[in-house]
Amino acid sequence: MSFQIASMLLASALLSVSAGAAADAKRGEALYAARCGACHSVADNGAGPRHRGVFGCHAATQPGFDYSDALKHSDIVWDEKSLDRWLSDPSAFVPGNMMVVRLANEPGDRADLIAFLQSVSQGERSCKPGATMPAAAITTHP
Ligand code: HEC
Repeated sequence: MSFQIASMLLASALLSVSAGAAADAKRGEALYAARCGACHSVADNGAGPRHRGVFGCHAATQPGFDYSDALKHSDIVWDEKSLDRWLSDPSAFVPGNMMVVRLANEPGDRADLIAFLQSVSQGERSCKPGATMPAAAITTHP
Protein backbone atom coordinates (compact mmCIF):
# COMPACT_ATOMS: atom_id res chain seq x y z
CA MET A 1 0.00 0.00 0.00
CA SER A 2 2.57 2.58 1.05
CA PHE A 3 4.74 1.41 -1.81
CA GLN A 4 1.86 2.13 -4.18
CA ILE A 5 1.42 5.61 -2.76
CA ALA A 6 5.16 6.20 -3.00
CA SER A 7 5.25 5.17 -6.63
CA MET A 8 2.23 7.35 -7.40
CA LEU A 9 3.98 10.31 -5.81
CA LEU A 10 7.13 9.54 -7.72
CA ALA A 11 5.20 9.30 -10.97
CA SER A 12 3.53 12.66 -10.44
CA ALA A 13 6.84 14.23 -9.46
CA LEU A 14 8.38 12.95 -12.69
CA LEU A 15 5.40 14.28 -14.63
CA SER A 16 5.74 17.76 -13.21
CA VAL A 17 9.46 17.75 -13.93
CA SER A 18 8.89 16.85 -17.57
CA ALA A 19 6.06 19.41 -17.87
CA GLY A 20 8.44 22.12 -16.69
CA ALA A 21 11.27 20.99 -18.94
CA ALA A 22 9.92 23.03 -21.87
CA ALA A 23 11.16 26.27 -20.33
CA ASP A 24 14.16 26.28 -18.03
CA ALA A 25 14.43 29.37 -15.82
CA LYS A 26 17.89 28.31 -14.58
CA ARG A 27 19.21 28.16 -18.10
CA GLY A 28 17.39 31.41 -18.78
CA GLU A 29 19.27 33.04 -15.92
CA ALA A 30 22.62 32.10 -17.47
CA LEU A 31 21.49 33.33 -20.90
CA TYR A 32 20.27 36.54 -19.30
CA ALA A 33 23.62 37.17 -17.61
CA ALA A 34 25.50 36.52 -20.84
CA ARG A 35 23.30 38.33 -23.35
CA CYS A 36 21.23 40.91 -21.51
CA GLY A 37 23.51 41.77 -18.60
CA ALA A 38 25.40 44.50 -20.47
CA CYS A 39 22.25 46.64 -20.40
CA HIS A 40 19.87 45.06 -17.89
CA SER A 41 19.83 43.74 -14.38
CA VAL A 42 17.00 42.32 -12.35
CA ALA A 43 17.25 44.87 -9.56
CA ASP A 44 18.51 48.14 -11.08
CA ASN A 45 18.03 50.32 -14.12
CA GLY A 46 21.07 50.62 -16.38
CA ALA A 47 21.24 51.22 -20.11
CA GLY A 48 17.97 49.23 -20.09
CA PRO A 49 15.25 49.07 -17.45
CA ARG A 50 15.39 46.73 -14.47
CA HIS A 51 13.52 43.48 -14.91
CA ARG A 52 12.08 42.71 -11.51
CA GLY A 53 8.35 43.05 -11.98
CA VAL A 54 8.36 43.32 -15.77
CA PHE A 55 6.50 40.05 -16.35
CA GLY A 56 2.76 40.65 -15.90
CA CYS A 57 3.02 44.46 -16.18
CA HIS A 58 2.44 46.98 -18.90
CA ALA A 59 5.53 47.88 -20.92
CA ALA A 60 7.51 50.93 -19.86
CA THR A 61 6.37 51.00 -16.22
CA GLN A 62 9.59 50.32 -14.27
CA PRO A 63 10.11 53.29 -11.96
CA GLY A 64 12.87 55.75 -12.81
CA PHE A 65 13.69 54.56 -16.33
CA ASP A 66 13.49 57.03 -19.24
CA TYR A 67 11.68 54.94 -21.85
CA SER A 68 11.21 55.80 -25.51
CA ASP A 69 7.85 57.27 -26.49
CA ALA A 70 7.42 54.28 -28.78
CA LEU A 71 7.49 51.82 -25.88
CA LYS A 72 5.52 54.10 -23.55
CA HIS A 73 2.68 54.27 -26.05
CA SER A 74 2.82 50.62 -27.07
CA ASP A 75 0.10 49.43 -24.68
CA ILE A 76 1.78 46.03 -24.34
CA VAL A 77 1.37 43.81 -21.29
CA TRP A 78 4.41 41.57 -20.88
CA ASP A 79 3.48 37.89 -20.96
CA GLU A 80 4.88 34.80 -22.70
CA LYS A 81 3.47 35.82 -26.05
CA SER A 82 4.42 39.49 -26.10
CA LEU A 83 7.91 38.80 -24.69
CA ASP A 84 8.45 36.15 -27.35
CA ARG A 85 7.61 38.67 -30.08
CA TRP A 86 9.74 41.37 -28.44
CA LEU A 87 12.80 39.15 -28.07
CA SER A 88 12.43 37.81 -31.62
CA ASP A 89 12.69 41.31 -33.05
CA PRO A 90 12.12 44.35 -30.81
CA SER A 91 12.21 46.84 -33.69
CA ALA A 92 9.61 44.94 -35.69
CA PHE A 93 7.31 44.60 -32.68
CA VAL A 94 7.67 48.22 -31.45
CA PRO A 95 9.11 50.37 -34.24
CA GLY A 96 11.20 53.25 -32.92
CA ASN A 97 11.99 51.73 -29.51
CA MET A 98 15.50 51.98 -28.07
CA MET A 99 16.30 48.27 -27.73
CA VAL A 100 17.53 47.46 -31.19
CA VAL A 101 19.39 44.23 -30.45
CA ARG A 102 18.20 40.75 -31.40
CA LEU A 103 19.94 38.38 -29.02
CA ALA A 104 17.50 35.48 -28.73
CA ASN A 105 16.79 34.11 -32.17
CA GLU A 106 16.25 30.52 -30.96
CA PRO A 107 12.70 29.81 -29.68
CA GLY A 108 14.15 27.63 -26.89
CA ASP A 109 16.39 30.45 -25.72
CA ARG A 110 13.45 32.84 -25.67
CA ALA A 111 11.32 30.39 -23.69
CA ASP A 112 14.08 30.00 -21.08
CA LEU A 113 14.69 33.75 -20.85
CA ILE A 114 10.96 34.37 -20.45
CA ALA A 115 10.73 31.69 -17.72
CA PHE A 116 13.55 33.49 -15.91
CA LEU A 117 11.88 36.91 -16.25
CA GLN A 118 8.67 35.39 -14.91
CA SER A 119 10.51 33.82 -11.96
CA VAL A 120 12.01 37.16 -10.86
CA SER A 121 8.68 38.98 -11.13
CA GLN A 122 6.71 36.84 -8.70
CA GLY A 123 5.07 38.87 -5.99
CA GLU A 124 6.50 42.16 -7.20
CA ARG A 125 4.44 45.28 -7.50
CA SER A 126 5.86 47.68 -10.00
CA CYS A 127 3.01 48.04 -12.46
CA LYS A 128 1.26 51.36 -12.87
CA PRO A 129 -2.13 51.55 -11.17
CA GLY A 130 -4.57 49.87 -13.49
CA ALA A 131 -1.94 47.66 -15.11
CA THR A 132 -2.60 43.95 -15.28
CA MET A 133 -1.28 42.09 -12.26
CA PRO A 134 -3.03 39.34 -10.35
CA ALA A 135 -4.28 40.82 -7.05
CA ALA A 136 -2.77 37.91 -5.14
CA ALA A 137 0.71 38.83 -6.38
CA ILE A 138 0.52 42.42 -5.15
CA THR A 139 2.62 42.99 -2.06
CA THR A 140 4.01 46.07 -0.38
CA HIS A 141 6.84 47.56 -2.36
CA PRO A 142 10.21 47.25 -0.58
C1 HEC B 1 22.26 47.12 -25.87
C2 HEC B 1 21.47 47.21 -24.66
C3 HEC B 1 20.40 46.13 -24.43
C4 HEC B 1 20.57 44.76 -24.43
C5 HEC B 1 21.83 43.96 -24.68
C6 HEC B 1 19.25 44.21 -24.11
N1 HEC B 1 18.34 45.22 -23.91
FE1 HEC B 1 16.40 45.01 -23.32
N2 HEC B 1 16.14 47.01 -23.38
C7 HEC B 1 17.13 47.94 -23.68
C8 HEC B 1 16.57 49.28 -23.66
C9 HEC B 1 17.33 50.58 -23.94
C10 HEC B 1 15.19 49.13 -23.35
C11 HEC B 1 14.14 50.24 -23.27
C12 HEC B 1 13.55 50.42 -24.67
C13 HEC B 1 12.72 51.67 -24.88
O1 HEC B 1 12.44 52.40 -23.93
O2 HEC B 1 12.36 51.89 -26.05
C14 HEC B 1 14.96 47.69 -23.16
C15 HEC B 1 13.74 47.13 -22.82
C16 HEC B 1 13.53 45.79 -22.56
C17 HEC B 1 12.28 45.23 -22.12
C18 HEC B 1 10.99 46.01 -21.82
C19 HEC B 1 11.03 46.45 -20.36
C20 HEC B 1 9.85 47.27 -19.88
O3 HEC B 1 9.94 47.75 -18.75
O4 HEC B 1 8.86 47.43 -20.60
C21 HEC B 1 12.48 43.89 -21.97
C22 HEC B 1 11.46 42.88 -21.50
C23 HEC B 1 13.85 43.62 -22.35
N3 HEC B 1 14.46 44.79 -22.70
C24 HEC B 1 14.42 42.36 -22.34
C25 HEC B 1 15.73 42.10 -22.74
C26 HEC B 1 16.32 40.78 -22.72
C27 HEC B 1 15.64 39.51 -22.22
C28 HEC B 1 17.59 40.90 -23.23
C29 HEC B 1 18.61 39.81 -23.50
C30 HEC B 1 18.20 38.79 -24.45
C31 HEC B 1 17.80 42.32 -23.51
N4 HEC B 1 16.65 43.00 -23.20
C32 HEC B 1 19.00 42.85 -24.00
C33 HEC B 1 18.45 47.66 -23.95
C34 HEC B 1 19.00 46.40 -24.09
